Amino acid sequence: MSISARFRRAVPTLVLASVVASLATAIPPAAAATPTPQEQVEAREKLMKTMGGGMKALTQFLKGEAGGPAEVKKAASDIAGVAAHDPMGVFPKGTALGVGDSAAKPALWDNWPKATGLWGDLKTASATLVQAADRGDKAAVAAATQAVGKVCQSCHEEFRQKKD
Ligand code: HEC
Repeated sequence: MSISARFRRAVPTLVLASVVASLATAIPPAAAATPTPQEQVEAREKLMKTMGGGMKALTQFLKGEAGGPAEVKKAASDIAGVAAHDPMGVFPKGTALGVGDSAAKPALWDNWPKATGLWGDLKTASATLVQAADRGDKAAVAAATQAVGKVCQSCHEEFRQKKD
């Protein structure tokens, strides 16, 4: 076999090897299952943004600006879905101000019973909101949206650093 024929045979093997190698780097190792504190902050901010989007949709609907029963139901279930998370998972220790772009004050962990109490209030208020949305009762949706908003606000006032 000539050298060039051998070389041609080797090329597909090399290409395959490099494809396998790039796949190996694309797939995170099993250790990535344990998120870093920065990733935990990002995950929390994503959950909060989901609720922010829900509240925005509800407000728009209540003002008559946008959306109908389907959007209201989705917004309510998005918020209740986040509220269903264990607060230990949403606010893991070691994710306060200073970690990534966390805006969570250390006071949240120093006053853990209060923080989890507010999370419990969020669960209750969002469950009421889901029921109101399912019934298509606009007055009840308005009342429940206000109640949920109060819980968001209480927690932010106490435990979230204001951004300038
Ligand atoms: C138990 C406390 C608590 C409750 C209840 C709560 N939040 Fe938050 N929220 C926080 C904290 C703490 C932060 C800062 C998180 C961070 O930067 O890591 C935050 C951040 C946010 C952010 C900014 C996320 C970002 O991208 O930086 C939004 C939006 C938000 N919350 C919306 C809501 C809405 C809407 C509700 C109610 C439906 C709500 N939150 C309920 C504590 C709470």
